Amino acid sequence: MNKKDILFLQEAERKRIAEELHDTTVQDMVYLSQQLELVMLYMEQDLTLAKLETITARKQIKHIIGGMRDTIYNLRPMIFDDIGWMAAWERLKKKLTEEHPKLEIVLDIDMIDTSDGLTAISIYRIVCEGCQNIVKHSKASHIQLSVKEIGNQINIIIYDNGIGMQEYDDCPSNHFGLQFIVERVKALSGKMKILSDRTGTKISIKIPKKAGD
Ligand SMILES: Nc1ncnc2c1ncn2[C@@H]1O[C@H](COP(=O)(O)OP(=O)(O)O)[C@@H](O)[C@H]1O
Ligand SMILES: [Mg+2]
Repeated sequence: MNKKDILFLQEAERKRIAEELHDTTVQDMVYLSQQLELVMLYMEQDLTLAKLETITARKQIKHIIGGMRDTIYNLRPMIFDDIGWMAAWERLKKKLTEEHPKLEIVLDIDMIDTSDGLTAISIYRIVCEGCQNIVKHSKASHIQLSVKEIGNQINIIIYDNGIGMQEYDDCPSNHFGLQFIVERVKALSGKMKILSDRTGTKISIKIPKKAGD
């Protein structure tokens, strides 16, 4: 990977974190601030209502703490050391299901060797980015995520039954996610194919085992 690719990956990652914080923590805090304004108002008029609003605000704070913990947890590079490969995937599924209860998520994940440098964490980040796009753009009701070890390759499939990728000739520098995936796959000496039509999108990636370390 050349220096420009590394800079690109860094910027893409920063953009992702900024978006995640904006969509979760910042929005939740705005809501919390409005709730506290209500508390102030009710304190003058109706103490019972003020108490009830305070209880809701407290729940909101707990929710924000949970969200920040998730963000911090996702930033840590050693999540597989902490909770294990399979548990990390289950956690991703749980988080997506909590945020999008109607979305059906099917996981088919092989146990892969997570000790070989950056391969495992890169695969995880690639699939997370794919999922972000699915929930943001696809309107899908079904997602399938698979990571299979076949011979000396790891095959990854990120599938959704959504509306497919529309033509976008917007400035590509505004769209980091797909490029982030492309760059990661390149860094792992892998290959990637996207099939997308009005019935959904399938991203297939093949990565040689032990590559890129
Ligand atoms: N699973 C998907 N289903 C439908 N459209 C998608 C999907 N993934 C990506 N896209 C389209 O591709 C575009 C580029 O995605 P990306 O590079 O991640 O940028 P961003 O998510 O910031 O718009 C998105 O804006 C969206 O139009
Ligand atoms: Mg995206």
